[in-house]
Amino acid sequence: LAASKRPSVIYLHGAECTGCSEAVLRTYKPFIDELILDTISLDYHETIMAAAGEAAEDALHKAMNSPDGFILVHEGAIPTIENGNWGMVGGHTMADNLKACAAKAKAIIAMGTCATFGGVQAAKPNPSQAVSVAKYLDRKDVINIAGCPPNPINFVGAVVLYLKGEKIDLDSLNRPKAFFGTSVHDQCERVKFFDEGKFAPSFDSEEAKKGYCLYNLGCRGPETFNNCPKVLFNDTNWPVKAGHPCIGCSEPSFWDSMSPFYVG
Ligand code: SF4
Ligand code: SF4
Ligand code: F3S
Repeated sequence: LAASKRPSVIYLHGAECTGCSEAVLRTYKPFIDELILDTISLDYHETIMAAAGEAAEDALHKAMNSPDGFILVHEGAIPTIENGNWGMVGGHTMADNLKACAAKAKAIIAMGTCATFGGVQAAKPNPSQAVSVAKYLDRKDVINIAGCPPNPINFVGAVVLYLKGEKIDLDSLNRPKAFFGTSVHDQCERVKFFDEGKFAPSFDSEEAKKGYCLYNLGCRGPETFNNCPKVLFNDTNWPVKAGHPCIGCSEPSFWDSMSPFYVG
């Protein structure tokens, strides 16, 4: 997809942990250097750009006002309490930064569960009254790449589909069906043990080592939609294969609705 004029991407941060950016840096299809040097033009990213202060602000305004337009990626939730003053970047609230960029963006991608559903910020009691990108903007066209963090392959895949002009089918939560259309459970290598009624009694048991199902230890794979078992993280592994239950990180309100994360 290398192009002579690479499409501009503005990547904003709201209330979050930067784990989603860490995930993007570890993309391997393509690697991050190919992604930002050959495929897109990452014109603003608060945590990895070399520029700081006024130079960074200038880069943002230049990208926002480019006649070729830009794709907006937003990581993190939006604190709304006290007019958004609990979250400030460059002298502006995160809410205002998002609103200003969203008004001009050709497409909006919410990156990670904080951005797609509020994430840990919006977990009870949600002291900053944080909300998702789509909820704050009151828009139905935000592409949600859920996960805490999301698999970078799903982010890159969505960007590539958009740049190729392909229709991106979304589920009822605005997640691309290509990545979130099947439950974790239905793709899990331990599902044969689930079907046979063979469940690990504890994380350190011989049964767990043999690959028995982790359902009785709190696994939320049956109610979680994501492609981790097939895509893997860093081409290496995924939580359940490593012996950890799925905690439902790509679902709304998972901090509240999926906990306790460990049972037994
Ligand atoms: Fe961090 Fe998870 Fe939020 Fe991403 S979705 S910023 S990894 S807390
Ligand atoms: Fe389903 Fe979890 Fe058991 Fe895998 S470990 S089969 S995802 S319940
Ligand atoms: Fe998240 Fe479950 Fe995958 S916790 S990373 S959706 S295995």
